[in-house]
This record gives sequence, structure tokens and C-alpha cells, in this order.
Amino acid sequence: MAKSYRAIRHDVVREKQKHNANEVHHPKEKIEQIEKILKDKRNLKIVEFFAGQGNLTKTYEKYANANEVECYDKKLKTGDSYLLFHKLIHEKRKYDVIDLDPYGFPNRFLPDIFLLIEDGYMFITMPKPYVNILNGITQQHLTCYFGEFNPSLNTILEKIKLYALCHWRDSEVLDVTDLGRLWRIALRVKRVKATEYTGIRNR
Ligand SMILES: C[S@@+](CC[C@H](N)C(=O)[O-])C[C@H]1O[C@@H](n2cnc3c(N)ncnc32)[C@H](O)[C@@H]1O
Repeated sequence: MAKSYRAIRHDVVREKQKHNANEVHHPKEKIEQIEKILKDKRNLKIVEFFAGQGNLTKTYEKYANANEVECYDKKLKTGDSYLLFHKLIHEKRKYDVIDLDPYGFPNRFLPDIFLLIEDGYMFITMPKPYVNILNGITQQHLTCYFGEFNPSLNTILEKIKLYALCHWRDSEVLDVTDLGRLWRIALRVKRVKATEYTGIRNR
């Protein structure tokens, strides 16, 4: 059966991803956002999941403690991020900056990724559901995480805020950069006291 135009375009995007093409990775826009948010911060503990060939790592190094960034990428055999973040939680690691830059949806990191941060920043790549070919599995996956198979940006941001609160982190959206087929979301994340947040005192 002949492929639809959308399916062919999808294949073209995949091929460009394979070759680290700037038009699918958008390093310039991502770097601009990182620099805008981190500005004069230094000596940060930074982890990059899906670090790829390091388009963002060089920028993060400027802000990192001893200029060292913890980087994980399956293709480079430095770790499967989906599994590894559980290990880092188990080890009680904490970071000032977390970068989540997968090709697909980052949903599987929610809500537990917030356990890795007490007071810091998170940069998340989120594909726009409505520009993608959503098969039944992806639709179900999105429904599980966002309550609907084709969530809007607002719904996604509201749900991310709730996921952060599952672990008593307040999250504030600092920036959303539109990258065509995806958004890059920058969050400020801070641990809050449940009693203070809810105004309820423990007896
Ligand atoms: C969007 S690219 C990230 C690019 C990188 N952040 C950059 O700006 O240069 C996604 C990366 O995720 C990697 N990847 C795919 N599955 C992975 C997994 N399960 N764990 C870690 N990395 C994975 C791919 O090898 C690819 O380099």
C-alpha cells in the first residue's frame, strides 16, 4: 500500500534525526532559551538525558560545576534514560538543572523526575500532539498522562504542574519556545512544604 504524505514526511523527519540535522534538533533556539534562563548562574549540577552528540552540552558546561555535565544517551551507550533516572532517584541524587530532550514524548518521566530536583530548572522537549501521526497506542499513552489523546499546550502545562505537586514541587513555567513540531518548556522547580502549600498543619 502506498504511504500517505504525512507518513512520508514522518520518515523524512526520522532520517534527519538520525543524522543530527539542526532543523530537527533546533540547537540554536534551545541554546538561546538555556542562556536566557540560566544567565548569570554558575557551578550548577546539571544532568542531560538524551544528550545526543552534545549540541547542548557545550552550553551547559559554562554553567556547570567544574564545567562537567552528566550526560546520558542510549545510542552512545552511556545509558538508557528511561531506566537510568529510576536508578538516580534510588541513589537520592539531586540536580540544579535537568534536561529532557527525547525524540518522542517525555511522559514516562512524569511525575518521578521531580524527585531529582529540589530547587532548580527543568528544560523539557514536548512534541506537539496535533502535528504528529498518533496511532492508537500513542493516543492511549497521551490519554493516560494528560487525560485526552490530543492535549493542548495548556492542558500539558497544567498537568505537568500537577505532576510536580505529586512530589511537593511547585513548578512555574518560565518560557515556552515554539520549535515548529515541538515545544521546549523551561520550568522553575522548587520543593515546597506540604503543610505550608495546603495551609494544613500536622497535629
Ligand atoms: C532529540 S535527540 C537529543 C539531542 C541532544 N539533546 C542535542 O541537542 O544534541 C534524542 C537523543 O536521544 C537518544 N536516545 C534515544 N533513546 C534513548 C534512551 N532510551 N535513552 C537515552 N538516550 C536515548 C538518541 O540517541 C538521540 O541522541
